[in-house]
Amino acid sequence: MNPSVQAVVSRGNPHAKLMLIGEAPGAREDELAKPFVGRSGQTLERLMESVGLNCDQDVYICNVVKFRPPKNRRPTRQEIALSFPWLQQQIELVDPALIVLAGSTAVEAILGIRGGISKLRGHWQDWQGRWVMPLFHPAYLLRNPSQAEGAPIALTKSDLLQVRQRLNRINQQAVVPVLGTARCQRKS
Ligand code: URA
Repeated sequence: MNPSVQAVVSRGNPHAKLMLIGEAPGAREDELAKPFVGRSGQTLERLMESVGLNCDQDVYICNVVKFRPPKNRRPTRQEIALSFPWLQQQIELVDPALIVLAGSTAVEAILGIRGGISKLRGHWQDWQGRWVMPLFHPAYLLRNPSQAEGAPIALTKSDLLQVRQRLNRINQQAVVPVLGTARCQRKS
């Protein structure tokens, strides 16, 4: 870890049923101590908005690694392992029903799978009783800006639509009247 940078913990709604986990903060995130506020964050916000999700209200956003790696390099396996207890605690506290993994570092940290994001994206996984959806990382989408059908941006929008639809179903099931009382069914 680089001690000259500050911890970037989260942004968004800590009561959201949807959590998004990215890789690590970049320069802008380090400056503002908030995840996904730079160019990747703008891309993420636009994609979320395209399926009717608001990054401040509907999602809790964090990263696997809480400190900006030197020169924006990919976090090492050791950094991921050292950060994992903090991430696990965040997940337990927020207790989301759905988790979106943005990019291969988040997939590796949570699912323990290295590589293969192109095959994993768009397919639901079960992790500790929570629905998990791997997605391309927004930085990858910035490098692949084609708007064509079947290109990474269009695929990511369709993956997020699946997320939106499942979130809607969970929200509908959240309050079930039982003998005149309201019971919460957290995960579906
Ligand atoms: N990329 C990430 O993975 N996280 C951020 O917070 C910003 C860019």
